[in-house]
Amino acid sequence: MAAPVQRDQELELTVESLAYGGNGVARLDGFVVFVRRGLPGDTVKARVTKVQRRHAEALATDLVAAGPHRVDAPCAHYPACGGCRFQDLAYEAQVAAKQQWVADSLQRLAGLSDPPLEAIVPATSQFHYRNKMEYSFTQLEDGPTLGLHKAGRWDEVLEIEQCWLASETGNRIRNTLRDWAREEKLTAYDQETHEGYLRHLLVREGRNTGQALVQLVTNRGERFDRERLIEVLNAIPEVRSIHWSVNTGVSEVTNLPTELLWGEDAIEEAIGGLRFRVRPNAFLQTNTEMAERLYAIAREFAQLSGNETVYDLYCGIGTIGLSLAGDALTVWGIEISEESVACAIENQELNGIGNTAFFAGNVGEVLSDLRVRAGDPGVVVVDPPRAGLAGKALKRLGEIAAPRIVYVSCNPTTLAGDAKRLADDYGYRLVRARPLDMFPHTPHVECVALLER
Ligand SMILES: C[S@@+](CC[C@H](N)C(=O)[O-])C[C@H]1O[C@@H](n2cnc3c(N)ncnc32)[C@H](O)[C@@H]1O
Repeated sequence: MAAPVQRDQELELTVESLAYGGNGVARLDGFVVFVRRGLPGDTVKARVTKVQRRHAEALATDLVAAGPHRVDAPCAHYPACGGCRFQDLAYEAQVAAKQQWVADSLQRLAGLSDPPLEAIVPATSQFHYRNKMEYSFTQLEDGPTLGLHKAGRWDEVLEIEQCWLASETGNRIRNTLRDWAREEKLTAYDQETHEGYLRHLLVREGRNTGQALVQLVTNRGERFDRERLIEVLNAIPEVRSIHWSVNTGVSEVTNLPTELLWGEDAIEEAIGGLRFRVRPNAFLQTNTEMAERLYAIAREFAQLSGNETVYDLYCGIGTIGLSLAGDALTVWGIEISEESVACAIENQELNGIGNTAFFAGNVGEVLSDLRVRAGDPGVVVVDPPRAGLAGKALKRLGEIAAPRIVYVSCNPTTLAGDAKRLADDYGYRLVRARPLDMFPHTPHVECVALLER
């Protein structure tokens, strides 16, 4: 059957719900149309942007009648900015949608008709919750400025005056660097011509310690006065660490070697009574307040008695493993980023913890070696990136046959797929799953799951 709509066609649609990823779901005689910027209950005029056999995509161009959950977005840059998707959806409706996405994933992809899903933990702070922001420089007629990508555009940057996801300190650092760039008459790098100098600004903060780290990314060459940069940033007392990276490639990466220009090489964050050193490229959950809740749930699910060998796979800077160490016999962490492992080792010393060990490696490749070295685990905690237990990781984990797996996931679809494989191939049963909202106004949802065999 041919699709009943065509590209560029104007439609009037009523949005029923939000699909995973954040688009509204509407139906035209049963044919599904995903509506970008459509919220549940809205009636919108929408232009079709893409047509496929089973569904189409459209962009809401006019709001005919607002749904019951619409609220005013506080940010002046919304909805043009790509940082937030749902500032105009009441927070209760956001968390309800996220809970539903996890339920749908577990039902459809894990094949569980009645998944053991617990109520989502809403975010403690709905705004200003991020401890890390990555801005791009862009050139305006009157000079360079800093901002975030425009919604749906990788190639266009929107100037930001005040971001509602960043802290007051973070906003101040960004605006100070914008003023500095103008005063120094520097130019922003142009992605099309590959000319210009300033590329990115990263701001990381220890939200519980009040310490901030700044990383400037430029094109090749030292075209600025270091002393002046340090001087303007030193006017902000929270800034403890200033780094500089050079990116001579065309890709817009920021995960680069850094040169320390001033201050400490790392900052500290405090989570759950422990201190963690954070370097520019090391992983840290970007919502400190909710990371605390996340680790508390992981700890509850792990049910440690003090006698267990625990594996902390995809351990980052050791946050989960070190939080569990007091309740375990030993904790063994694996992480692919050497910079993060260096932080994890520093962090165990910083906190005077003696029963943990951290190693650099790819989980799928080194898990068998870890088993030889550490012995069979009583509990394995996994916290993989969005792709889930990719490569050989799931097979190796299944072969270890630990009695309990605590799966911390930032993607319910890969969590559900992995839970199904662990059940079908290795005899695991999903016992509990608890979603958390770490990222209000965005389509991201975190979930902690407990699997047992
Ligand atoms: C979601 S983060 C979790 C970090 C940590 N558990 C935390 O809560 O801060 C995922 C981590 O997995 C690491 N990683 C990605 N692929 C990996 C792999 N194949 N083997 C080991 N670590 C990997 C990343 O560098 C990142 O630090």
